[in-house]
Amino acid sequence: MLAGPAPKYFTMTFDRLETTLRLRGGHRLHGAVRVHGSKNATLPIMAASLLCDGEVIIKRAPRVTDVSVMEALLESLGARVREQGANTLRISATNLGQTRAPYTLVRKLNASFDLTGALLGRLGRAEVPLPGGCVIGTRATDLHEMGFRALGAEVRGARGYLIAEAPNGLRGADISFRFPSVGATRNVMLAAVYAEGTTTIRNAAMEPEVVDLANFLNAAGARIGGHGSDTIVIEGVDRLRGVEYEVIGDRIAAGTLLLAGAITRGAVRVEGTDPEHHRALLSSLEECGVACSCGDQWIAVDASGTRSGTDILTAPFPGFPTDLQPTMTAFLATCPGTSVVEETIFNARFAYVNELVRMGADIRVQMDSNAAVVKGPAELEGAPVEAADIRGGAALVVAGLAARGETEIEGLEFIDRGYERLEEMLTELGAQIQRSSGIVALAESASAFETSTMPTVG
Ligand code: EPU
Repeated sequence: MLAGPAPKYFTMTFDRLETTLRLRGGHRLHGAVRVHGSKNATLPIMAASLLCDGEVIIKRAPRVTDVSVMEALLESLGARVREQGANTLRISATNLGQTRAPYTLVRKLNASFDLTGALLGRLGRAEVPLPGGCVIGTRATDLHEMGFRALGAEVRGARGYLIAEAPNGLRGADISFRFPSVGATRNVMLAAVYAEGTTTIRNAAMEPEVVDLANFLNAAGARIGGHGSDTIVIEGVDRLRGVEYEVIGDRIAAGTLLLAGAITRGAVRVEGTDPEHHRALLSSLEECGVACSCGDQWIAVDASGTRSGTDILTAPFPGFPTDLQPTMTAFLATCPGTSVVEETIFNARFAYVNELVRMGADIRVQMDSNAAVVKGPAELEGAPVEAADIRGGAALVVAGLAARGETEIEGLEFIDRGYERLEEMLTELGAQIQRSSGIVALAESASAFETSTMPTVG
């Protein structure tokens, strides 16, 4: 609460569109909820549809803004995209003509770099803006480039774009990655599907979303083996046909819901996700005293016996997923003892910590080791906070569920990039959370927060 006379800037009233999530914490979550389809599987599968001669029908595509941006990107390249119902996409790339992806759309979406492999494979040329970096860290492309070159493409940078060309087609190659990059594995797989001969990717990413992309391509007529292991072998084919395909459940959204249950010491069950995708998360939760059980496409946690924190090291699959690092850190802040969270995938993924600290968490980030030392248990308190990226935003939501009083989260547009109506899934589990949006004056928005009409904690 502000004390004394309002500062000058606070009395200015200029309008802005504000969409926020407002939630009142302190409730144990309970019940069951079904998770939506995977964003990080849907996006590359959408890119892969450019390789198919015939209509592709993608089922269980999540209604998130990253998918909408990818729809616009495919259309800008000449594909036709139609939405059917809430979660089905029909994509036809018969008239693909453009090889240059527009910067205005690409800059909104790192996964758009997957278009490089698809365009190179289909049209022999791709011009896609380089991703550079984003709020969670550097997005290097050396492995993508090395893979394309090994397949026989000429690759160069020009005015912020990566240009890859193979006018005479690509040839299969033996490619070894120094690091199992998810994006580079996908891109090389997409390009190699139409290469002449056999391509082997060693030290390939083993993430379930990479496996889903390979399964999609095989359903369309590709000949890919070894996906899910560290060596993927692709036999080139002449044609991929249209296909109907359902994407896997979103393991990061599922993990977020499980951690939302855990931070409130509740008991929740998440359906529509493969427990094999969650081994690292479940074993970390068990180390904290959370009881976990699972069956065919469901996982349940009961956090009433939570007794301590644990140390986390993010790593490529099957290690602990970097995309759950922020949410796990929020949970650990409420657990007794000291936990060390080390991030090994991205070099700047702790920006959200400042907001957790404002909510009362005791977390110190050690920049030199890219690690956070979390001391618990913290009694979190609701506060106005701002999301700066998808997963950091989810961590603030999860923290707000455990916090005393009301939390208002700005930057909802980041959360909407990766979660299909997160607040609705949480409401099904008993959370008090609502989305409010409208044109408001700055001073008004502050007073609206002070005079919340949300139901009080019962
Ligand atoms: N890297 C290189 N060289 C390369 C490629 C990557 O050094 O050529 C480095 C990157 O700079 C980064 C690290 O390797 O530090 C990881 O990159 P990777 O290629 O594995 O990840 P990505 O394809 O850029 C995908 C997901 C991310 C997820 C990571 C890791 C999509 C659209 N994105 O990114 O998801 O964190 O894999 O699992 O699938 C998110 O959904 O919020 C998100 C960031």
